[in-house]
Amino acid sequence: MGVVALVPAAGRGERLGYGMPKALVPVDGVPLLVRAVRGLLDSGRVRHVVIAAPPSEVDVVNTVTAPLATPAGGAVHVVAGGSERSDSVRLALTYALREIPDTSIVLVHDAARAFTPPAVVDAVVDAVAAGHPAVIPVLPVADTVKQVDASGVVIATPDRAALRVVQTPQGFDAAVLLRAHEAAHEGATDDAGLVERLGVPVVTVPGHPDAMKITTKFDLAVAEALLVGSGGAP
Ligand code: C5P
Repeated sequence: MGVVALVPAAGRGERLGYGMPKALVPVDGVPLLVRAVRGLLDSGRVRHVVIAAPPSEVDVVNTVTAPLATPAGGAVHVVAGGSERSDSVRLALTYALREIPDTSIVLVHDAARAFTPPAVVDAVVDAVAAGHPAVIPVLPVADTVKQVDASGVVIATPDRAALRVVQTPQGFDAAVLLRAHEAAHEGATDDAGLVERLGVPVVTVPGHPDAMKITTKFDLAVAEALLVGSGGAP
């Protein structure tokens, strides 16, 4: 059973205000992307990682991630990403299915979730291997959430107990993910959203607060604090 992780990392990350692609922003000297890929390979569940890099940074990304290949056969591949996140995932998926034999389970993991604990990767892979075609890690919602109209007026208050915040890695049967991307729907912000539209059930497993997405300077400060709290690891 071949588990391949796709890492869309081709975003410009402007909200972080660093003047470089977010994936390359360092936390304690180590780029987010390097931390994310290392976490996937260190989980022991992922053999190949395919990174979708900003097209202008493919060489740089190759250079910073090449040392992550492991003696046990863990390999890192880099492709040029696309203009939207879903394009980047599709390009990485196409590469994986063409170049990596035995690709049966595919994880999609945001480079920006650089501190995801291995237990989350385990839980996702286990659930897909157990026969669920689509699996996402989630957390309960702490805040009350409102739905608003275009002018910001509240139109509904969904029951908080039934809401979940979605993280990555999201795990899929490779053929299902391919079908979802071939259907090419607009507007999905995650891969599970595309799979849902096929009518395929998406199941949840527990996520972890450390798998937060680093989007803003505040998130980056939280990540630095996490590192200090863990004595420098991961
Ligand atoms: O913009 P957002 O934070 O939602 O992006 C989520 C992930 O998708 C990031 O890791 C980003 O690098 C990636 N992405 C991509 N290709 C794009 C846009 C975003 O790989 N064109």
